[in-house]
Parts: sequence; C-alpha cells; structure tokens
Amino acid sequence: MYSRIAGTGSYLPRKVLTNHDLAKMVDTSDEWIFARTGIRERHVATDNEVASDLALAAGQRAIANSDLVPADIDLIIVATTTPDMVFPSTACILQSKLGIRGCPAFDVQAVCSGFVYAITIADMFIVSGRAKNALIVGAEVYSRILDWTDRTTCVLFGDGAGAMVLSVSQEPGVLAAKLHADGGYAEKLCVPGWICGGKTIGSPFVQMDGGSVFKFAVGAFEEVAREVLEAAKMSVADIDWFIPHQANIRIMEATARKLELPLERLISTVEHHGNTSAASIPLALDEAVNAGQIKRGENLLLEGVGGGFTWGGVLLRY
Ligand code: ACO
Repeated sequence: MYSRIAGTGSYLPRKVLTNHDLAKMVDTSDEWIFARTGIRERHVATDNEVASDLALAAGQRAIANSDLVPADIDLIIVATTTPDMVFPSTACILQSKLGIRGCPAFDVQAVCSGFVYAITIADMFIVSGRAKNALIVGAEVYSRILDWTDRTTCVLFGDGAGAMVLSVSQEPGVLAAKLHADGGYAEKLCVPGWICGGKTIGSPFVQMDGGSVFKFAVGAFEEVAREVLEAAKMSVADIDWFIPHQANIRIMEATARKLELPLERLISTVEHHGNTSAASIPLALDEAVNAGQIKRGENLLLEGVGGGFTWGGVLLRY
C-alpha cells in the first residue's frame, strides 16, 4: 500500500508588495534584494486574514482537484509557524471551516521544513491503514512576525498557503522520506518571544544569522537529497523535478549544482512569492502542476530546511 498525491491547491493573498515598495519603507533596493535572493515581490495578507483562511482556500482547491469532498478527508495536518492562536491548532480551526468533524487534526511546527515533516507523517498514517485521504497544508502569515523596520529580514518573506491531498493508492507515490533536526542551532534562526501573564516576553520578530543559515542550508539540502535517493535506490538522473524550500535562489541553485542536477529541473517561484516558509514547497508544486510542467508518473524531490534547525527530504512519484 502506498500514499500518492491525489491533488494540489494553493492560495496567495491579493496584496503584492514589490521590492520597490519595500525601498520606500527601509533602506534597500530592488537591485540588492534581487541579486542576493532572487526575490522581486511577495504577497501579504490583509489585517483580518489569518493562516486558517489561507489554508482553507488552498485546501478546498486541493480537495476539489482530487475529485473529493471535505467529508472524504480523514486526517488534517497543517504545517505553520504562524498559527491563528496559541491553541487550538490551526488544523482544528481549518477542520471546522471545512465543515467537517471527528477526524484527527493537528499542526506541525518545523518552520520551513514543516511541509516535508507533514507529508512524512501523513504517509505513515496512510501506509499503516490509519487514514485514506490526508489533507496536508502549509500556511503562513509571516508578515505578522517580521520587524518591518529591519531590512535584513523583512525583505525575505511572504504570506501564502499550499495544500495537497495524499491518498491511499496501489501505485507508488511516496518512495522515501528522511527527517532531521539539530536544536543546537536554535539561536541562528528564531522568534525568541513567548507569552506570559498576557504579555509578550522577548522579541516576537524573526531573528536570523543569514550567513550561517545559508551555509547550513546548502550542505543539508545536498546531504538529505543523497540520503533519500539511496533509500529509494535511485540516482540524481531519476529526479524529474527538484522542488526545494523556496528561501533564496542562490541556495537553491548552489544545491542543484552540488547535486549536478540541471537547473532546468529546478522549480523556482521565489521571485514572485518570497520565502513563505512551510507554504513554499506546496505553493511551488501547485504552480508547476497547473502550468503543466509536472506530469503524472514523474519523480519529484521535495526538500526543506528551516529553523531548529530542521531539515528533510521526500522523494515521490507524482
Ligand atoms: N538591503 C540593502 N542592504 C542590506 C540589506 C537590504 N535588505 N540587508 C542587509 N544589507 C546590508 C548589510 O547591512 C551589510 O552591510 P555592511 O556590509 O555595511 O554591514 C551588507 O548588506 C551585506 O550583508 P550580508 O549579510 O553580508 O549579505 P549577504 O550577502 O550575506 O546576504 C542574505 C544576506 C541574503 C540574508 C543571505 O545571508 C542569505 O540569503 N541567507 C540565507 C537566509 C535565508 O534564506 N533565510 C530564510 C530563512 S531560512 C530558510 O528558509 C532556509
């Protein structure tokens, strides 16, 4: 028994913030941002849009594209770093907005690796017979945890949601998955705030040592790619499409070069989305599916690296 992608969906808030818009807010420029990151613009949620709203729109599209209805969903996992509330989970809120009840629903907090973690968990539910149709969503409103006066971080991120339905199948879908974490790097990329006595203690904004993240990410992406390929007894030549977490075009291209994977097989949406953390992989996947780039039967390598540090890869047949 396998788990296989039945359908995908995504949603981007309507408001677009370009690099030129940002240059009016902080001391930066389109040239600097594009040269260092490959980002030109990102979408930003309105004040009354929360992660579960974005997740709902993406999730409904994924369910419809799977020829299913919400009542068919028997597991919901939301990967998010920017939940609606401290609790209940965004997955529970999404379940209610979908008009269903009873199935397990929970959030995964693995920052930018969240979606890769979520697929791996859903795959285990499905192959063990505990679920038939899992809705997996990456949904983020990073605009809420950015210091819009800090040019070193606010230019990098965006809001959005991507989703997939992973269903039980006789045909191979998920072929191999590997997850990792090393909490020794917690301070390199974090939001070091918490809530106590009705107040936020510490900083509620993203803090990052960009150089360390960059170096670590390229190494981790390469290492985990080789790990999943070995587990599936496949080689780089078998990868039709490489869909890494969309943090920065330089990280993505450096990884492809290390793997000797032609850049034509790298799916990149970072130019128009920015870094949408847990949402970036399913957003890129859905765009490539809709553009007719990715076709049934092709092999996809999805990879995430994020705060924690966490990292992981999933190799699957679409
Ligand atoms: N506009 C203009 N100048 C800027 C900006 C900006 N937005 N941000 C920083 N600078 C300045 C710095 O202050 C510095 O000036 P100084 O030399 O006078 O001190 C100069 O530009 C160079 O700064 P660096 O930090 O050395 O720039 P670098 O080439 O390392 O690029 C970047 C920074 C883009 C953040 C890079 O380190 C990077 O991409 N890191 C990866 C981070 C990332 O992708 N994080 C996402 C989350 S993690 C994940 O998703 C995997």
